[in-house]
This record gives sequence, C-alpha cells and structure tokens, in this order.
Amino acid sequence: MKFDTPATQNPIDQLKVIGQSVNRIDGKFKTTGTAAYAYERHDVAPNQAYGYVLGASIAKGRIRAIDDTSARAAPGVVTIVTTLDTPPLALGQMNYANLFGGAEIAHYHQAVAVVVAETFEQARAAAFLLTVDYETEAGRFDLAAEAGSAEPVGGDSGEGSDSGPGDRVGDFEGAFAAAPVTLDHTYTTPDESHAMMEPHATIAAWQGEKLTLWTSNQMIAWSKGSVAKILGIPKENVRVDSPYIGGGFGGKLFVRADAVLAALAAKAARRPVKVALTRPLIVNNTTHRPATIQRVRLGATRDGIITAIAHESISGNLKDGPPETAVDQTKLLYAGAHRLTGMKLARLDLPEGNAMRAPGEAPGLMALEVAMDEMAEKLGLDPVEFRIRNDTQVDPGNPERPFSQRDLVGCLTLGATTFGWDKRNPKPGQVRDGHWLVGLGVASGFRNNLLAKSGARVRLEVDGRVTVETDMTDIGTGSYTIIAQTAAEMMGVALDGIVVRLGDSDHPASAGSGGQWGANNATAGVYAACVKLREAVAQRLGINSADAVFADGVVRSGNRAVPLCEAAASGELVAEDAIEYGDLSKKQQQSTFAGHFVEVGVDIHTAEIRVRRMLAVCAAGRILNPKSARSQVIGGMVMGVGAALMEELAVDTRRGFFVNHDLAGYEVPVHADIPHQKVIFLDEPDPQSSPMKAKGVGELGVCGVGAAVANAVYNATGLRVRDYPLTLDKLLDRMPDAA
Ligand code: MOS
Repeated sequence: MKFDTPATQNPIDQLKVIGQSVNRIDGKFKTTGTAAYAYERHDVAPNQAYGYVLGASIAKGRIRAIDDTSARAAPGVVTIVTTLDTPPLALGQMNYANLFGGAEIAHYHQAVAVVVAETFEQARAAAFLLTVDYETEAGRFDLAAEAGSAEPVGGDSGEGSDSGPGDRVGDFEGAFAAAPVTLDHTYTTPDESHAMMEPHATIAAWQGEKLTLWTSNQMIAWSKGSVAKILGIPKENVRVDSPYIGGGFGGKLFVRADAVLAALAAKAARRPVKVALTRPLIVNNTTHRPATIQRVRLGATRDGIITAIAHESISGNLKDGPPETAVDQTKLLYAGAHRLTGMKLARLDLPEGNAMRAPGEAPGLMALEVAMDEMAEKLGLDPVEFRIRNDTQVDPGNPERPFSQRDLVGCLTLGATTFGWDKRNPKPGQVRDGHWLVGLGVASGFRNNLLAKSGARVRLEVDGRVTVETDMTDIGTGSYTIIAQTAAEMMGVALDGIVVRLGDSDHPASAGSGGQWGANNATAGVYAACVKLREAVAQRLGINSADAVFADGVVRSGNRAVPLCEAAASGELVAEDAIEYGDLSKKQQQSTFAGHFVEVGVDIHTAEIRVRRMLAVCAAGRILNPKSARSQVIGGMVMGVGAALMEELAVDTRRGFFVNHDLAGYEVPVHADIPHQKVIFLDEPDPQSSPMKAKGVGELGVCGVGAAVANAVYNATGLRVRDYPLTLDKLLDRMPDAA
C-alpha cells in the first residue's frame, strides 16, 4: 500500500481497540518467565555448547601470537576459534570496527577468541588459559585533548537525524554581533552505555549451509543482511529469530560479536553454540553513546526574540565511525532568522560510538535546553515564556515547509499549569524544605517522526483466529500489543482472537525497532495487510468490500451479515502487504514535541540531588495505547535522569577503555531515585504520518529531560553546571551557606 496522500477516515478511527489502555498481551509470558529470551532458548536446537568470548586487553595494536595449548587441554573444551585463525570479516550495517578476524586490534575488548565447552564455567575457565602476545601501539583516547584536531563532518545517526559539517541560514555571525543580548557557553556530555537489562546473546546452529541465529536484536532484516555480509554467505541461507528482547536502546540495532562468534563457533564445533556477552564486554566490546563538547551561541532582542542561534558539537569515534548528531534538533526547534549548526569529529581509538536512544537529540537537548534556560534568565523572562515566544510553525531553514503538526506551546502551557509552575521562584536558591533546597526546571522535548517501509502478513485461520506475522520486534515496548490492537480493529474481532508472531526473518520485513519509528510504521504495515485481508474476505463471501463493515466477528454489507470465520471455512485466507511512503514527509516536517518539568531537592549540606517529581506533556500524534506509550515515556524520563545525574563511562585515557564496565560502577537510576512521574498526551491524530495517524514517542520521553533536571538544580541552588552528569562534587564547594 502506497501512502502518499494524507489519511482520511478509516477503520482505525473507530477506536474500539486502538487508543485503549489495554494490558500487554505478552505480559503473562513475561511475568511467568515463559517468554524465552535468546540465551534461554534451550529447546530450539539440541546439544548446545557454550561459547565464551575473550576480549583484547589492549586498545590498539596487533596480536603477535595466541598460545591455546593449555586452553585446548582444559576440561570440557570442544573447540577454540581465535582471531588469528579467521581472516578479517566484512563489516555489517552501522558497524565500524571489525567484529572478528585478523591480527589488528582497533579497540579495547575487541573479540580475540571464542572458547567452546560443554558448560559455561568450563568455557570461561579455559578462556583465561589463553595466552595472547600483543604488540601495543599508542592510541588517542581523550576527546578533550583531540578536540582541537577534530575535522568538520556531516553525518547521520542511522536514526533520522542528519546534519552537515556547517549548515547555515542567513548571517549568523553578523546577527550575533548585533544582538543586544547574547549567550556563548560550552556544555559537555559524557560517553554513556545502553545498560539494557538483557545482554547481547545468540544461539547459532548450522544445517548444512543454512544458519539460524536465535538472538536478541532490534532490526531483523538489517541483521539478516549483515550476518550474510559479515560471514560471506548468501542472505537466503540466514534466518534470524528474536521474539523477545530485554531492552536494546540502540545497542542491538545491529549485529554484534555474540552473533558472529556463535556462528563461527557452531561451525567449528559442528553443533549449536550459545554465546552471551558479559557485562564488561557489552561496555567495551559493543557500542556506546559518544561524549560531546557542544558550544551554543544565542543572540536575542531585549524582548526575547532569538535573532541568532548557533549550535556546534565535537564528538569522537573510530576511523569511519559517525559523529554524534547533537545539533540536529537546533535546526527545527526554535525560530530565528540567522542560524548555524555544525559538527566536528575527532579520531579516537575508544570502542565504537553508535546509536543510543535518541542519538543526537538526547545529548543535543542537554546543551541547547540549558542554554535556553540561561538565556531566559539573562532576558528576565520566564523560561516557559521565552520558549513560547520563539516557537515556529515552519521549518526555520525552509519556511515553505510547515510542520505537519506542532503543539510545543500546548505542551509547555498545559505542563506549566499541571505542574504548578506559577509557584516557582524565578530567583534561584530561595526555596527551602528542611535541609533541601528545592527548584523547578523546564525543557522542551523534540524528536523527529520517521517513516520507513514496513510489511506484515495476516491469516484468517479456519477456527476464526487472526494471526499476524512480521519481523517487527518488541524490545519491551509493547509492539505485540499495539499490533494485536491494529488487527483487532481492522478485522472487527476481539483482542484475544488475535495471535501475533514477531521477530522472525522468515516473516515479512518490517521497519523494526529503532528511532521511535517502530509503532507507527509497523502498525501501518499491519493495517495495509489487513486491508488486503478484508478484500479477500469480502471476495470469498461475495460481498462488496467497499461498504463492508467488520465488527463483533461479523461482516456486514447491505442487509447481509456473515460471521467472519465463514470466510475461512473452506480454507485459511492469507494476505500480505507493506506500507510504503511517498514524499509527504518531505513537504511537511513530521516531529514530536514535549514539555518536560522536573522538581529537585538539593541537600544544602551534602549537595546530594534528589528528583522529587517529573511531568512530561507529549504531542506525538495518535496514541495507539496510552498505557504502553506511558511506559515508553516514563522509561525515557528515567534515562534522562540517569544522563543528568549519574551516567558516565569513565575513560582510562592512558589505556583506552571504559573503566566502570558493570552495573556496579556504571550507575543508572533505581526505583528509589524516581519517586513520582506523570505523563499527559495531547492526543492529536496526524493524517500525514500514516493510516494510523500515530507518531513515535519512545525517544521523545528522554529528549530534554536531562536539561530539565539541570535547570531545576540551578533553580534550587543558583549553581550552573555545564558538564554532565551533575554529580555532587561539581556543586559541593560552591553550595550556598547552610546557616
Ligand atoms: Mo534507536 S537508538 O535503537 O531507537
């Protein structure tokens, strides 16, 4: 189905099932432990052996030799595959450092061997008997030190944000020089780890030339292609299956070493092999969100109209790796006639930097939205009012191009009323609650809505059940449920009459889970397939499909009413289609918006920061399921608190690795850190986005939150910190007098 004109009225608009806060249909499998995740799929292949991955203990150089004599003799060892036995493998999609093969080491914990044994413990014990002789080379590990040599680059995040090395509108320098009120500050964000709960894990089995991978992956079609490319085998010979995923946040967009090494190990062992990456390997072997150094300059009139806006970001990566696209939102979020955005990239020899939830916007808004707070204060304006004064309804770089929908102002005003913003004291450091200094902060949230082709197959089975099959993934987001809701609405059956099968590369290729594009595109693909199935049903029943109404398990047309299941009485009906997009999103900018509000307390004696309450008001198209959408947003808000207050990969700038490579050292928020969250959706169906009229919301939840926390800390204390995370050491020696 081609979607190239705005959606009109369609069966989804009935909102009998869509738009309802139904519980997850997979909830009972997850809460009873019967949803099997990759490493637990004991039943898919017999006689599974365990692979243990050894990572390089240097960051740069080469391997002279590997002595595996004692490892091979260790109890239970089946086989060992080393990187010296294997020619360098090709790179997969969004992959910039070789996952395996050859003597060169490009980053710390790059895989050097996989040891296969009868048990996990035997494999691990044998792996530590390997002796690797390295020739170490000097590397570049310190972004601040390399920033001066960073080169201008363009690049995209792989998730829709896309910026050039220097994008200009008007004359930024002239307007900035002429502006009566200006701001020029630099903000830094650290390297961050996805810290998803489920590790990367894969079980691999070969049947002749055919390879099956039971794995944990967000993007099945990408990964099928990547596995084939990396291993140099035909795509048709690869099957990837990933029905349950315990979080990914971008870290499982692509194939990683667990999948490749399981495949190589299974071939060498001549039996199925399972490989999970240990937590340290997740940090240094896989990918992370790269650190940034961001300079924001704003120029405004005295009444708070922005005339000049510039945002430049420096990040680092391995050779050929992409920049962190932290300036992208600044092209679209606020008005202003004279504009500059640009990126520079420093060559670093740290592990591979890559997409993490809202790549670009998440760190970018942490800078821009603090700058907006600082500028509001300079102007003597309320920060909500300053943002509203600079709203734009068109793409500022291309005023012919409106937003398809944009109610940032509504998000901010409703948020302000709901949160009690009028009680905020604009003078910082004034509000006390016992030993707590209390402050309120606000930030705008922004993230684009992305369209991508997405396919599905639907079956009306003889027993009347409707089965949906697509390679779409559910990474904990609720895909199963919203896909079932879509099919139920379209076919006029109850939710429990729908069976959803996801994550299998034998199913039609979907948009997959990434860039908050999954929900709208995957359900639109199911919509397209259901339109075809409705036609097939009508044809078989001899009913005119144009006026057929599908409701309550019955198909009605004129004065005829036939149970839906009768259409399949003589045999199952199958329909397959995909949603494909025209250029609607080129004519109008499709984005999502939020107002994020945060209250913090800062201990006047210790500078300990506690979040007290949070609110997000989101404008993100039609909300397909308010319960699962809320879960996405509150999860994003938690991640925003982590980014603001605790998350930071500590770089060993001499040895070139992330030191705090486990969940004891890499701190993320826990329940006790997040006392109260509220989410409001401005439910606004967007006919430009798809027949579902929905947009992404999963990344909007994190975008802007970090800045709202930082702005609240400033309001509480009067102390501005421009280097994330805001740990108490950055406040303590400047704290106001407790007396
Ligand atoms: Mo993307 S960082 O997987 O949403």
